[in-house]
Amino acid sequence: MKEALDKINNEFQKDYESISTQQDLEALKIKYLGRKSELNGLFSNMSKLSSQDRGLFGKEINLLKQKITDTINSKILSAEKNELFFDVTLPGTVNTFATEHILITVLKQICSTFEQLGFSVVEGTEMEDEWHNFSALNIPLEHPSRDGFDTFYLDSGATITEKTGQYLLRSHTSPSQIRMMENLTPPIAVVSPGRVYRPDEVDATHSFMFHQVEGFVVDKNISFANLKGVLLKFARTFFGPEVKLRFRPSFFPFTEPSAEVDVSCIICGGGKNKQIKKCPVCKDSGWLEILGCGMIHPNVLKDCKIDFKKYQGFAFGMGVERVAMLRYGIDDIRLFFENDKRFLEQFYVE
Ligand code: DAH
Repeated sequence: MKEALDKINNEFQKDYESISTQQDLEALKIKYLGRKSELNGLFSNMSKLSSQDRGLFGKEINLLKQKITDTINSKILSAEKNELFFDVTLPGTVNTFATEHILITVLKQICSTFEQLGFSVVEGTEMEDEWHNFSALNIPLEHPSRDGFDTFYLDSGATITEKTGQYLLRSHTSPSQIRMMENLTPPIAVVSPGRVYRPDEVDATHSFMFHQVEGFVVDKNISFANLKGVLLKFARTFFGPEVKLRFRPSFFPFTEPSAEVDVSCIICGGGKNKQIKKCPVCKDSGWLEILGCGMIHPNVLKDCKIDFKKYQGFAFGMGVERVAMLRYGIDDIRLFFENDKRFLEQFYVE
């Protein structure tokens, strides 16, 4: 009996030293403490012993069993504490601290798609003056088209001149075009992201603050075909290779001709996905409006001291919330700004 116990003890020591994984530890536990273990077998052999020896060996067996149990348990504990057996198949934990907001992620993706096409990214200013936000964009004072851009005016204390007019929170990112053109010489290819403000009643599709990405190119021999090519390349990279674009004639004071652009619905594929009966995003129209664009109006180039006989340009502006809503099927713009973790967490990336 004594020899049998010594043998088990020695073997256990050897096996114990060679374990390197969680599985080894499990196997060790079964081998030495399981129902069919040698140690358990010894208990059944005890019936052959005298009652005195039985008491003695019973104690010895229990002592060894306890020793093995303690050794294995302390190994399990220290393995857990030191992550000795790191199980790569377990699901990871997502870092939710200081994680990027979904709108910033989308905004960066839009900009980097244009960067790949050769555009530079330059931010404009959120506080603007009437000259940059309106007049230089061919929206004269008292012109009815200013009504389309209701505006938060600021009492900023900055010097108001005849040229600047009043100061305001920019109502679109188009004034960035003016700031760039005033300071750069063609060829220019810039995208300019940022926040814009409009005193709109807040509802599922309107917010008093939202984000836009403005883009424009000024060079020789620029035509509407270049604009179409760039936007199509953007849409295919951003939404997927199958996407189609539709240009509808429109009006913006700073572009002529102007257009609004729709993408084929990315949720139902413009009706191609037969599994979607009634598309909640495009309402079965098959198209979703994503941006406004056009050829930069000669008056705008003139105001920025760019020779409009030599240079032409195209411009476009898109709403970031809108693009994000379409891409992820989000039906309420307010969700972006309420900071409800249950909403934001859906977009955390590991
Ligand atoms: N600034 C326009 C808006 O906020 C969007 C826009 C339309 C920008 C046409 C452009 C453009 O650059 O060419 O509604």
